[in-house]
Amino acid sequence: MNPNIKILSSVNNKILTDLVKIHFNAFKKFNLRPWNYRDFLDILNNGYKIFYYNLDNKIIGFVIVNYNLDFREIITIAVDRSYQRKKIGSILLQHIIDYGQFNKSIYIEVAKNNYQAIKFYNKFGFKLLSYRRNYYSIYSGKNKGFRIDALVMKLI
Ligand SMILES: CC(C)(COP(=O)(O)OP(=O)(O)OC[C@H]1O[C@@H](n2cnc3c(N)ncnc32)[C@H](O)[C@@H]1OP(=O)(O)O)[C@@H](O)C(=O)NCCC(=O)NCCS
Repeated sequence: MNPNIKILSSVNNKILTDLVKIHFNAFKKFNLRPWNYRDFLDILNNGYKIFYYNLDNKIIGFVIVNYNLDFREIITIAVDRSYQRKKIGSILLQHIIDYGQFNKSIYIEVAKNNYQAIKFYNKFGFKLLSYRRNYYSIYSGKNKGFRIDALVMKLI
């Protein structure tokens, strides 16, 4: 297990605020609704697991997983923009694949236009399972109000 990766098991204002910032900066180019502090609190209250990557006392990425089902579901994964493409996402993803019950399938929904994430999941062996039509809503920018399909991808 990677010593840089910790699980957030209770409310911590500083950590949750850092996660909000990372989520904002990682996702802003997609013009989806940014997640706020309350969203992260709800995630914790739902019993989802938040794993965050700590480098020299700075959080630089995180992944959120629902392990409460017959399968595992990645709620989201994000790496701070200035640390992207340095394998932090891969380390986080491998960590949650190795965590818990290995034999359970892992699902992820990803926006159709998020080519970098689709490539990322493909590299790990995730396969396209189905589409969810009009799944994401564009929240800001010139395409505000438009909707985007999601790919459902599955590993194992
Ligand atoms: C997707 C994300 C988590 C990947 O994390 P990362 O640390 O940047 O990725 P890694 O360095 O581990 O990359 C692993 C592989 O994924 C693919 N990949 C990652 N980023 C890519 C990019 N910008 N363009 C093309 N391929 C990319 C590559 O195959 C890469 O391997 P390579 O560098 O040897 O070619 C990160 O880019 C991110 O936070 N994106 C914004 C948020 C997001 O889209 N999350 C997914 C929501 S479903």
